[in-house]
Amino acid sequence: MGKTYPTVSEEYQKAVEKCKRKLRGLIAEKNCAPLMLRLAWHSAGTYDVNTKTGGPFGTIRHAAELAHEANRGLDIAVRLLEPIKEQFPILSYADFYQLAGVVAVEVTGGPEVPFHPGREDKPEPPEEGRLPDATKGSDHLRDVFGHMGLSDQDIVALSGGHTLGRCHKERSGFEGAWTANPLIFDNSYFKELLSGEKEGLIQLPSDKALLTDPVFRPLVEKYAADEDAFFVDYAEAHLKLSELGFAED
Ligand code: HEM
Repeated sequence: MGKTYPTVSEEYQKAVEKCKRKLRGLIAEKNCAPLMLRLAWHSAGTYDVNTKTGGPFGTIRHAAELAHEANRGLDIAVRLLEPIKEQFPILSYADFYQLAGVVAVEVTGGPEVPFHPGREDKPEPPEEGRLPDATKGSDHLRDVFGHMGLSDQDIVALSGGHTLGRCHKERSGFEGAWTANPLIFDNSYFKELLSGEKEGLIQLPSDKALLTDPVFRPLVEKYAADEDAFFVDYAEAHLKLSELGFAED
């Protein structure tokens, strides 16, 4: 099996490598790894496996998609990235945003997620309403991630992305970080989840759903106990997410 990826020119591949370095610099300077990961995820997570619409194809930069309720605050990410994008006109936005997500995980100490270039920008943003609602439970998570074509294991592993960053009252209505160290990518999200709510840290209803579901919970326990296992499954799930609708045969 395995996907067949498009071949990009040597010039394009060089631009990817150089851009990666620029992204490392920007993310270190601005401490914006969490926001970059959220941008990449919200860009890709609109994919619908049945209609083959949405997905990581650069549309999130358009005002219409940034205006989706779930994307509040991501205009900042698009704006922060623009001066770098201008240096690499050859790259698609689609590749560029996914590269930013991969770099965000790497520079905060997370696993290396493979990156394959060659996504093309699509003209039309997807309809609103395909990203998960944080006030809902496991049925909703399965429904939303199922539409992306992702599995139960992908749901739990990817939820570990909340090891980074925090909620902002003015963006989502929630406030607070999931972990004590929101700029470090490790398995602490799962440890905190299992240890219960703590002063100053947050657990969304959608996070807590991972504890009550009989399939999700053993994975939470596995990842809390074994960071290497988490990194392996996270890298696999992030790779899938970043390539939804890309290089399908
Ligand atoms: C499972 C369903 C998910 C729900 C319901 C959810 C919900 C949320 C919410 C409500 C916020 C707060 C936004 C804000 O106020 O700034 C947030 C932030 C964030 N999410 Fe998720 N999320 C989910 C999955 C994911 C996935 C799959 C990833 C990446 C692998 C991810 C990465 C992040 C990051 C890094 C932040 C922090 C952003 C920042 O600090 O500015 N989330 N998420």
